[in-house]
Amino acid sequence: MAKLKMALVGCGGMGTRHLYGLRELVQSPFANVELAALCDIKQENVEMAAVKVEELLGFAPQTFTDLEAMAKAIPDLAMVDVVTDPSVHHTVVCQALDLGLHVLVEKPLAITVKACRLMIEAAERNGRLLSVAENYRRDPSARLVRHLIDKGVIGTPYMGLFHSLSAGNRIFITPWRHLIDKGGPLIDMGVHFTDLIRYQLGDIAEVYGDARLIEPVRVKQQSIGDTYEFYQQRHKAMDDEVPATAEDTSMAIFKMASGATVSWIVNVGGHGGGGNQQILGAQGCIEGFGSRGSSTRLKVAGREDIEYEQLLAEHADMALEPLAEYFFPQRSSVGDAAVDWKIIALEQYELAEAILNGRELEVDGEEGLKDVAAVYAICESARAGRTVTMQEVESAAVYAYQAEIDTALGIG
Ligand SMILES: NC(=O)c1ccc[n+]([C@@H]2O[C@H](COP(=O)([O-])OP(=O)(O)OC[C@H]3O[C@@H](n4cnc5c(N)ncnc54)[C@H](O)[C@@H]3O)[C@@H](O)[C@H]2O)c1
Repeated sequence: MAKLKMALVGCGGMGTRHLYGLRELVQSPFANVELAALCDIKQENVEMAAVKVEELLGFAPQTFTDLEAMAKAIPDLAMVDVVTDPSVHHTVVCQALDLGLHVLVEKPLAITVKACRLMIEAAERNGRLLSVAENYRRDPSARLVRHLIDKGVIGTPYMGLFHSLSAGNRIFITPWRHLIDKGGPLIDMGVHFTDLIRYQLGDIAEVYGDARLIEPVRVKQQSIGDTYEFYQQRHKAMDDEVPATAEDTSMAIFKMASGATVSWIVNVGGHGGGGNQQILGAQGCIEGFGSRGSSTRLKVAGREDIEYEQLLAEHADMALEPLAEYFFPQRSSVGDAAVDWKIIALEQYELAEAILNGRELEVDGEEGLKDVAAVYAICESARAGRTVTMQEVESAAVYAYQAEIDTALGIG
């Protein structure tokens, strides 16, 4: 099979996980990419990732601290996998596209809607592909939920609940995740959720929302569960406290284009805790929108609750793409320790397939923009004190909240 040369740009926490994803792909019969190089503006991060490549893939990759120098040194480089923090996605991705490279970029597509638009325009201008690494919808559980909805198992959905409350004042993964112009916790987690909501229930039409900052000071945890060496070292180097500037708590009502409504409560801080995900239809209810490593349950009138394994057995017609079938032969990722890496491999594979064979991208620039815009619609609605339409937010006609971020970052 033809293999495209790919470079990883951004060798931090998630960048390290993308290397594990690549190992899953190159060890599969579907391998269509090979790692050509690593790039990070921080020399120590690129060096640590190079050691990881030797361990995972068995060779020493070329390393760079400058994207343009890398592209010049490797003339047949076809694509880059961009895993930098979101505040620079637009600069790195636009530069890569202008250098003639195809791009896979981690979610959120960009720090604001205008930054997303710059990237979409750069892809069009250069005739290159732009794909967003949105992982949650690619899990078999999300595919099953979508399959059940498409088959009409619960009838027409009329309501959704998406409630995810994780309380506390700990530093959420990285200090930058608490800073409004770096991509706060709502945008960081929220795009996963808006993507799932749109994947299962279609586009959002209108949003009424509220967003607040409840924990203005974030505190370093004594220890973290992540066993990756990069995460452990980064944790050691963290300050004990981080002043937060980005909202951590949100509530909203989404009016879907279909006419359904979705109740949204998402926080990464504050008080309370727990979660509740339901999709309610005229004939039943699906518990869970699907997510990495998760399951779902169905309640329909006249039957006992139908658990995930039973659902999979009853819906043997649910097809996954061939590489997903290879990774998840039981069509479930529950308890699969490698699920994170396998889904990343699916994302890398898809872009290479799109370049080589014209496969359609599942989450392209326009889709990624909608996910970002839906989270900002909550903040824009809170700022404007009224319901906003997605059309207003996606076109940046309503924009006061993001204007401050764009001004700080020189976007626009
Ligand atoms: N899909 C998921 O489940 C998931 C999970 C975690 C993170 N992410 C996403 O991955 C991205 C990275 O997050 P992270 O936690 O790895 O952050 P991080 O801070 O650990 O890593 C970011 C890396 O990018 C590098 N970098 C910054 N600017 C650069 C530039 N101009 N050129 C090259 N390298 C640059 C930094 O030096 C750092 O090594 C974010 O977009 C985040 O939302 C996604």
